[in-house]
Amino acid sequence: FSLKNYNTFGIEAKAKQFIAVHSVAELKTVLKQNKLEKKFILGGGSNMLLTKDIEALVIHIDLKGKKIIEENEDFVWVESQAGESWHEFVLWTIEQNFGGLENMSLIPGNVGTTPVQNIGAYGTEIKDTFISCEALSIANQETKKFIKDECHFGYRESIFKNEAKDQYVITSVIFKLTKHNHKINTSYGDITAELAKNSISKPTLKDVSNAVIAIRQSKLPDPKELGNSGSFFKNPILLKSDFEKIHQQFPEMKYYDISETEVKVPAGWLIEQAGFKGKRFGNAGIHKNQALVLVNYGNATGQEILNISKNIQETILNTFGIQIEAEVNVI
Ligand code: EPU
Repeated sequence: FSLKNYNTFGIEAKAKQFIAVHSVAELKTVLKQNKLEKKFILGGGSNMLLTKDIEALVIHIDLKGKKIIEENEDFVWVESQAGESWHEFVLWTIEQNFGGLENMSLIPGNVGTTPVQNIGAYGTEIKDTFISCEALSIANQETKKFIKDECHFGYRESIFKNEAKDQYVITSVIFKLTKHNHKINTSYGDITAELAKNSISKPTLKDVSNAVIAIRQSKLPDPKELGNSGSFFKNPILLKSDFEKIHQQFPEMKYYDISETEVKVPAGWLIEQAGFKGKRFGNAGIHKNQALVLVNYGNATGQEILNISKNIQETILNTFGIQIEAEVNVI
């Protein structure tokens, strides 16, 4: 079974077996019936690089449905099943004037995988509105609810990438959103500029969402046109003491303070300075508008893309003494 249409990099890789499940009951049955089989859980396929065929039963989570489960004067609790498209879910909340997800418009992928790497963009992360998620244990099919504190969210991190890795299938997620007095967050530089361009001084949720969409479309390739997985690397976090030494050598280096002791450096800047932006190596390359994004020009193998990523990592380490880590899940 070809997985080419199930990963946004558009990599050709085969699954030994493939099944799409449309309900939690069906998922339970499939897990039970294939107890001894190796399993691979596939959501939207927007954060992985397939470097080989999958010698396992691939289970595609296609659970649909979204609804309001509770509300009061000020807030609403919305629940989405794992297989809903994230962006469509975000638009659905904005249409109802529910605030909190607008800065994360147009992020590819499905709702069920958003907690795994605590997706974020333009000054917001899902941990800011996340209440809980429901997950099914792969080993014994028991349902477990993870409340926010149990998820150990960090920058592109959660328990689902660490202690609980490969143990659960997230089946639904609950967010708490505002009904009024929305905390409009335009602190991320690009948003302010985009709104100003359209002479918007008091932005609505929709205005912010539109600004984010415009910015993303100008920098990030549409996976339907050019295979990619968003940012390939995480922005490295350095101790201030280490950063200061590097900064003396490279005074132009961009950085953001993230705590008293830590600094985040945009990996896109490092990669661009190292001369990789827009470069093509055979069937793959580095996007011309955003150096953090690797792209598949059509027939790239996962291995080719992985080699490019290693070349970038090595060059950045040799040039700046900074280690950059993949954000994408390399399989
Ligand atoms: N930069 C460059 N050259 C580039 C790209 C970036 O010099 O080619 C520098 C610029 O200084 C720019 C700064 O990096 O001001 C930040 O760039 P940008 O706003 O595009 O954001 P990013 O740090 O490259 C992160 C997320 C994105 C998210 C944006 C906006 C990570 C790994 N990536 O990228 O998330 O959309 O911020 O919030 O944190 C994703 O995770 O897949 C993703 C796209």
